[in-house]
Amino acid sequence: MLQAGRLRSSQMKIDVLTIFPEFFGQVFDFGIIRRAKAAQIVEINVHDLRDFTTDKHRMVDDRPFGGGDGMVLKPEPIFEAVEKLTGTPDRGNYPAGTRVVLLSPQGKPFEQKAAKAYAEETDHLILICGRYEGVDERVNERLVTDEISIGDYVLSGGEPAAVVLVDAIVRLLPEALGSETSADNDSFSDGLLDCPHYTRPAEFRGMNVPEVLLNGNHAEIEKWRRDKALEKTRLNRMDLLEGENGEM
Ligand code: ADE
Repeated sequence: MLQAGRLRSSQMKIDVLTIFPEFFGQVFDFGIIRRAKAAQIVEINVHDLRDFTTDKHRMVDDRPFGGGDGMVLKPEPIFEAVEKLTGTPDRGNYPAGTRVVLLSPQGKPFEQKAAKAYAEETDHLILICGRYEGVDERVNERLVTDEISIGDYVLSGGEPAAVVLVDAIVRLLPEALGSETSADNDSFSDGLLDCPHYTRPAEFRGMNVPEVLLNGNHAEIEKWRRDKALEKTRLNRMDLLEGENGEM
């Protein structure tokens, strides 16, 4: 998807550009992301776009040309920030392994395979959080390598979407999940949703864990899991089973 065959080097660097840096508070300080940061598998920096303005009012947005509601994020601070972070204000010249993502409802849908591709191939990920009615289109024309949406709904800004990307990508970085877990059985990793899971107690408020999971027969357990994954996918996400040509 990104640069076929290219594998990332050591640490991944993620820079988030936003007009609401406080939004990110402690979101990257829990669980797998916190561990990955501590182990220097990833470095995450959040930047205030106002720090890249040069006017005395530190303006990051303005009214849309042609009229209409809302405000549009101005190009200058975003160009300044990307140039500072990559060394160039031109996506044709970024260092290898650099991706500049604009989070917007107009973007391509974000999927597990994109998360995997970023985790495997990207050294430096810059996430631009869109706001208000939009972002000056020259940002898209000159800086953005991927415009991404996390779903068919409109958020008030790209910040929650940036958190979603960081989480989905960082947990796939080699070493991030730790040895006790694996992403191989995640929903979507084999085109199906994940199967149901149970833990102790075996009986709870009159509800019993399926017998097959207790009997230690691994072949039977695998078959049960596959059947249940199919059943769940059919129920909630028929589109995943229909394939690209509308066939199973
Ligand atoms: N900004 C606003 N809505 C969005 C969405 N659905 N995905 C990504 N960024 C957004």
